[in-house]
Amino acid sequence: MGTYAVTGAASGMGRASAERLRRDGHTVVGVDLRDVEVVADLSTPTGRAAAATEVLERAGGRLDGAVCAAGLGGIPGRDRLVQQVNFFGVVELLEAWRPALAAAGNSKVVVFGSNSVTLTPMVPERAVRALLDRDADRALRVVGRFGKRSAPFAYASSKLAVTRWARHAAISPEWAGAGIRVNVLAPGIIATPLLEEQIARGEKEAVEGLPVPIGGRGRPADVGEWVAFMLSPAADFLCGSVIFLDGGSDAYFRTDDWPVSTGPAGVLRYMRRAKAWRARRVAGEAARNRAREDLAQ
Ligand code: NAI
Repeated sequence: MGTYAVTGAASGMGRASAERLRRDGHTVVGVDLRDVEVVADLSTPTGRAAAATEVLERAGGRLDGAVCAAGLGGIPGRDRLVQQVNFFGVVELLEAWRPALAAAGNSKVVVFGSNSVTLTPMVPERAVRALLDRDADRALRVVGRFGKRSAPFAYASSKLAVTRWARHAAISPEWAGAGIRVNVLAPGIIATPLLEEQIARGEKEAVEGLPVPIGGRGRPADVGEWVAFMLSPAADFLCGSVIFLDGGSDAYFRTDDWPVSTGPAGVLRYMRRAKAWRARRVAGEAARNRAREDLAQ
């Protein structure tokens, strides 16, 4: 049985994930604003640092996995809060937990993204880049240009940035090289308190008008099953994937947009990437040989 950190464990999909893991006999260290083992506010740097440290203490410095479900939807007038929780509340915790995930040897991370990353048109790339540069003020200024309509852009850019961060981490020596599988679950409309709040704020029409080819809304308990699967040995070969769990909304709007082959400009990039990969492998082998020689002496 493993030990898992689950943020957002007090409600919705995080709670369903934590319950599912506990049912299997795992130990869960929940992080949220209330009703969990580690009560912390992930919207502030001090709250995030305290949460990271307390989880590590409770887990004894070894984590078999982490589920980052704490998050907010787009809330008018709360762009900074949304960016802080949805982006920094994921990456700062995961970076602090990385050594503990590496210590487990074959660990797994599920980051909660959103299908809004492909469904929201014109998500400002500069806001995404600002977040990836850890420049919250710049990201806020970029989305601020949308004025009173900034909330969906603040939300989608925070989710796009965290998705990109996860894909970059997933393939890097620090994460993949340490046996840590990082993947993103991108839900669509899931019946949780977050969705109810959005409807109560006057977004009923937008929610009900969204094309969902399979119909209805997703259930948190089913999302918990996906999370359990993505943390299980069956997901050992899953790395850097973005799983859309949205009843077909992404496929409806972006049917032919991806997967796509690369054009001629991409061929050079592939060659550079392949060369860098070979160099990385050679360097890795050399380091392993050195370590073996050191041990033998
Ligand atoms: P939820 O509102 O039911 O649960 C989110 C949890 O995050 C709550 O327990 C909340 O207290 C916690 N949280 C929020 N701010 C926090 C903070 N500052 N510090 C610590 N904890 C905080 O929401 P739901 O629907 O379960 O969402 C889970 C994840 O899925 C979120 O990241 C959300 O953005 C994402 N998502 C949700 C969708 C939906 O339709 N429900 C669609 C796409 C993505």
